[in-house]
Amino acid sequence: MNESTKRSSFSGKLGFVLAAAGSAVGLGNIWRFPYLAAKYGGGTFLLCYLVLAVTFGFALMVAEIAIGRKTRQSAIRAYGTLDKRFRFLGPLASLVPIIITPYYCVIGGWVMKYLFVYATGGGATLVDGNYFTQFISSTSPLIWFVLFVAVTVVIVMTGVEKGIEKVSKVMMPLLVLLSLGIAVYCLTLPGAMEGVIYYLKPDFSKFSATTILAAMGQLFYSMSLAMGIMITYGSYMKKDSHLTASVHQIEIFDTGIAFLAGLMVIPAVFSFTGGADVNAGPGLMFMTLPKVFGSVPITNIIGTLFFLLVLFAALTSAISLAETVVSILCDFTGIKRMTGCLITAVILIGLGSFSALGYGPLAQIQIIGMAFLDFFDFISNSILMPVVAFLTCILVGYIVKPASLIEEAEAEGASFRGKKLFVFVIKYLAPVCIVAILISSVLSSLGIISI
Ligand code: PFF
Repeated sequence: MNESTKRSSFSGKLGFVLAAAGSAVGLGNIWRFPYLAAKYGGGTFLLCYLVLAVTFGFALMVAEIAIGRKTRQSAIRAYGTLDKRFRFLGPLASLVPIIITPYYCVIGGWVMKYLFVYATGGGATLVDGNYFTQFISSTSPLIWFVLFVAVTVVIVMTGVEKGIEKVSKVMMPLLVLLSLGIAVYCLTLPGAMEGVIYYLKPDFSKFSATTILAAMGQLFYSMSLAMGIMITYGSYMKKDSHLTASVHQIEIFDTGIAFLAGLMVIPAVFSFTGGADVNAGPGLMFMTLPKVFGSVPITNIIGTLFFLLVLFAALTSAISLAETVVSILCDFTGIKRMTGCLITAVILIGLGSFSALGYGPLAQIQIIGMAFLDFFDFISNSILMPVVAFLTCILVGYIVKPASLIEEAEAEGASFRGKKLFVFVIKYLAPVCIVAILISSVLSSLGIISI
């Protein structure tokens, strides 16, 4: 039996789309998108994001999934299979999920803790603005982090079709229902309409190059690009699944849930503070929102449903991140899947413990002025991901040539609309934009510019 016949696969198109959408829809959509939209002028950011998603995001996601399906390898070997000179890109891209997964599970643990507090009727305690700071500066995030890792790894252990696909088929529809329900509820709060207008009406006076850069950075994060996830999931995709149609569906899911998250969070915050707190940044979900929920008559119910939604989103994404680490380990060393899962659990807990304790007992240890979690986030999102994406575009655009991936996307007679756009983005638009992201994110982390 050769490698391609032994490899796990999703049972069909729906399984693939739901699992890949599960990967894309995560904390990025519910926690990060609303605060960025609020910061960058609401409607202006939204519009910018949508335009980038259907051009830039579409082309990069098609490229990654096609690389995976064509080579039937995870990122560690896929690039080298396409061209030997790009073998180095495998380990580089593989480093990204190894760095991200541990700290992502730490934030997943925070979400679990909040869900637990709401579900046990303690929502009123979360209204205190200091609750979050006290929580992350204690040792308790470590316990929630280990619990979150345990759930993630157990699902990954059960396999691609039986575990990941089944879980996604249950969690993703529930996630959509919860998002719709909570968004409708938030829109009925008094004063919410002002927030809706802020969120939907473009204010071009707020538009600047940094809006585009922020939207582009968010797109990478949200669509799980440049970290080997889509290559790995593509390697499990069957040849008769329609590749570009699947990408459209994943994008609709991803952008749709981000849009709904904005529609929950921004109007709710406006209703509560008349817009004063909408720029709370990363604290919007853990600090501001509990205050808002505290003011509604059904605090604990709405808080439980909201954090359940966030937990589903975080879990399906963490599963894809952990699966990518497992497949990299297995493809690289030839070890069995189960052994790969156990080693992954050890890596996650080992590395993640630093991030889990990084605002508490380990707060004195800073790396280039950052706590562990912020440092891991910076290295992966601001440095490695743009570098990997840039090199992927060069490999696809100029070495293997877009035509070979277009051929993969058109396998078994599948249509590919937007081929010219694909070639233009991969060869010209994406490389230029990615260099701009890289330079700006480094300058902004060094405090030289602010984005
Ligand atoms: N795309 C997912 C999200 O938006 O949360 C998962 C994710 C992958 C997040 C990679 C962050 C990241 F760097």
